[in-house]
Amino acid sequence: MSNIKTIGVIGAGQMGRGIAQVAAQAGLDTALFDVNSEGLSAGVEFIQKQMLRGVEKKKWSDSVATEVMARIQPCQALEELKDCDLLIEAATENKQIKFQIFKDLDKIAKESAILATNTSSISITEIAAATGRPEQVVGMHFMNPVPVMKLVEGIRGLETSEAVFDTVEAVAIKMGKTFIKVQDVAGFAINRILMPMINEAVYTLYEGVATVEDIDTGMKLGCNQPMGPLELADFIGLDTCLAIMEVLHEGLGDTKYRPCPLLKKYVLAKRFGRKSGRGFYEY
Ligand code: 3HC
Repeated sequence: MSNIKTIGVIGAGQMGRGIAQVAAQAGLDTALFDVNSEGLSAGVEFIQKQMLRGVEKKKWSDSVATEVMARIQPCQALEELKDCDLLIEAATENKQIKFQIFKDLDKIAKESAILATNTSSISITEIAAATGRPEQVVGMHFMNPVPVMKLVEGIRGLETSEAVFDTVEAVAIKMGKTFIKVQDVAGFAINRILMPMINEAVYTLYEGVATVEDIDTGMKLGCNQPMGPLELADFIGLDTCLAIMEVLHEGLGDTKYRPCPLLKKYVLAKRFGRKSGRGFYEY
């Protein structure tokens, strides 16, 4: 861990900006990269807002917020990440995009750099195979919203070395997270359990068993979940939920993972949840 001083985060979206925030809060110099300049500015502004909100709530001082922001370096060229000790990719959940990013990172990153991915469902082993250093590729699956959720799911690819796995565990702990150790199987552990629950909630709606509100109220009050499963699906993004169900269905080959037709229909209609303004609820 002592050798990890600088972190590069690829993608300034919902997950990337959260990872950059917790990295900088942990005292690590953090380069935040996004190809899209508007997305990059929006990501940095979001972190700034979170840090200021923390000052208002007296979680940390004004000077801490200033120090954290000073540790975050926005970047628009991947080459700017060449000196980072650990690179965490949090780009769009699309195989071809991720493979290309890892090929590019493999070219620009220094030899000792660890390449981690925040993928929620794509095989770590397959991503690692896109590089010439598969033993230095590992899964670091953060939960949304990253600054709030205490977990990092660590995923070991076929070739991931023990030393690399231990290092990212230490980094996650430094970021204030608890690290669980998981093997590289479709959906890993968290989404293997969470997504079928969400999919089943969609089936419950689809079959007319209960309304959106009653399903969510039931799971919130009956099972102490902070958000009902349909509200959570909107929060995660219905397109992401569907993509993960498809990975489970294809990867594990069991019909119990069949995505609900209603989930598919909402995605076809571009009702992606919060990010598009409409999912099971309107925003
Ligand atoms: N970024 C940073 N902080 C945030 C935030 C965000 N996007 N959203 C909320 N927060 C903070 C608030 O500032 C507040 O902080 P405070 O307690 O220090 O004041 C705290 O979270 C609570 O927020 P609110 O009071 O506004 O709202 P709630 O009490 O309703 O909590 C929630 C919001 C934390 C999102 C809660 O509803 C929750 O835990 N929901 C479930 C989230 C979950 O299950 N995430 C996992 C999704 S699965 C996943 O990520 C894997 C992927 O692969 C699909």
